[in-house]
Amino acid sequence: MLDTRTIELVKSTVPLLESANTALTEHFYKRMFRDNPELKDVFNLSHQASGRQPAALFSAVLAYARNIDNPAVLSAAVERIAHKHTGFAIQPAQYDIVGHHLLETIRELAPDAATPEVIDAWAQAYGALANIFIGREEQLYRQSEQKDGGWRGTRAFVVKEKQQQSEHIVSFLLAPADGGPVAAFKPGQYLTLHLDSPNLEHKEYRQYSLCQAPNGREYRIAVKREPNGVASNFIHDQVQVGDQLLVLPPAGDFFLEVSAHTPVVLLSGGVGLTPMLAMLDQLLKQGHPADIHWLHACENGAQHAFKQDIQQQRQANANLNSHVWYRSPADTDLPAEDYDELGIMNLNAMKNSIYLDDAHYYFCGPLPFMAMVKDTLIGWGIAEERLHYEVFGPHQQL
Ligand SMILES: Cc1cc2nc3c(=O)[nH]c(=O)nc-3n(C[C@H](O)[C@H](O)[C@H](O)COP(=O)(O)OP(=O)(O)OC[C@H]3O[C@@H](n4cnc5c(N)ncnc54)[C@H](O)[C@@H]3O)c2cc1C
Ligand code: HEM
Repeated sequence: MLDTRTIELVKSTVPLLESANTALTEHFYKRMFRDNPELKDVFNLSHQASGRQPAALFSAVLAYARNIDNPAVLSAAVERIAHKHTGFAIQPAQYDIVGHHLLETIRELAPDAATPEVIDAWAQAYGALANIFIGREEQLYRQSEQKDGGWRGTRAFVVKEKQQQSEHIVSFLLAPADGGPVAAFKPGQYLTLHLDSPNLEHKEYRQYSLCQAPNGREYRIAVKREPNGVASNFIHDQVQVGDQLLVLPPAGDFFLEVSAHTPVVLLSGGVGLTPMLAMLDQLLKQGHPADIHWLHACENGAQHAFKQDIQQQRQANANLNSHVWYRSPADTDLPAEDYDELGIMNLNAMKNSIYLDDAHYYFCGPLPFMAMVKDTLIGWGIAEERLHYEVFGPHQQL
């Protein structure tokens, strides 16, 4: 427990943090990578260059300082970050490194305000938060290890299949090299690949949503080639059937959790369909009796991944409705056959079928797409507890 004086001192630094904004975390990462260059093998340096990870860390630090007297309001964020950390195999000793650089950053950026008392208060506050993360992460590591087919750290998997699913998306079927079973997961969760190759400048961790329901034997992921993306281009070009990949256990706080009577609306843009595929697979396998709506937007037929799978499932399942938007169809793309609507997803036109009293809405795709989905659903009066989304990168509040 932090004492009142410590809480007061940390709160007093909120205006300072606000005025520094992401300069705080940019400085922090700069000094950390300078003094601890081994962490370049842990963090995604593209997320540093784009500023998305400094922004994510800054929001977390600011939210903590603002809510230091009531950290319970941060529990959902803590849960998400802890899951994410397990995907990078973060260890307790690394919290000392981060803590050191955070305190030094405050000292360097605000030499006048950073009195010994303020630094001491931040040291205590950081220590309290670090302990929460360390405790939760150890629990998650242990849960992964203790499941049937579970493990801790990395495990070697063999690529059993590599299939082109669209112009830019390739799927991979992965089975353990040791021949053992694989742990179950909740549809919506992701695997992390730990890539280590002489062809990469650094080791890289990357998350990929599992795209079929658990079956105890193997996992399936689908990877989109990103322009100038370090890992996705490596995976597309250099990972072949028979190769081994190092994989961390399934994790993530975005997952399907509904009762049999709950209608489910799955909304995706582009490669954001991957977690929805696992959710749909699970719902259909368990004969979900309530309605399921599949809404997907993509560029055109060439970029429409898993089109046939969804069409087949729709024919086989009367309670599955699907609606697809193409932004710029090719001449060969047929309306009604390949897609339903031209343009970007327009939810208002779908209100009659998807505005349902007790439905849960799961969505994933580019940030502007997800912001549109959230704003529209909130605008209809749907409670936030029924909306669930995943950001394919450092988290951002929509
Ligand atoms: C929970 C989760 C689930 C995910 N699931 C999937 C999935 O199922 N399928 C999938 O394909 N992906 C998924 N992702 C995304 C995936 O983890 C990778 O982020 C993605 O493959 C891109 O990695 P990369 O190494 O190719 O690109 P990176 O090298 O990480 O680059 C990312 C993007 O940043 C851009 N960039 C690089 N440098 C800069 C710079 N200086 N300034 C601005 N921009 C820059 C790149 O051009 C690229 O577009 C998921 C991510 C998360 C967090
Ligand atoms: C109290 C301390 C910490 C806080 C508040 C914190 C906060 C965060 C946040 C907000 C994210 C983004 C989460 C998301 O996208 O959902 C994140 C990701 C991450 N954190 Fe932490 N973290 C802490 C400690 C650590 C430590 C000790 C390490 C180990 C070196 C670490 C390594 C990482 C990595 C590697 C990522 C992913 C980065 C990326 O995608 O580029 N964090 N952390």
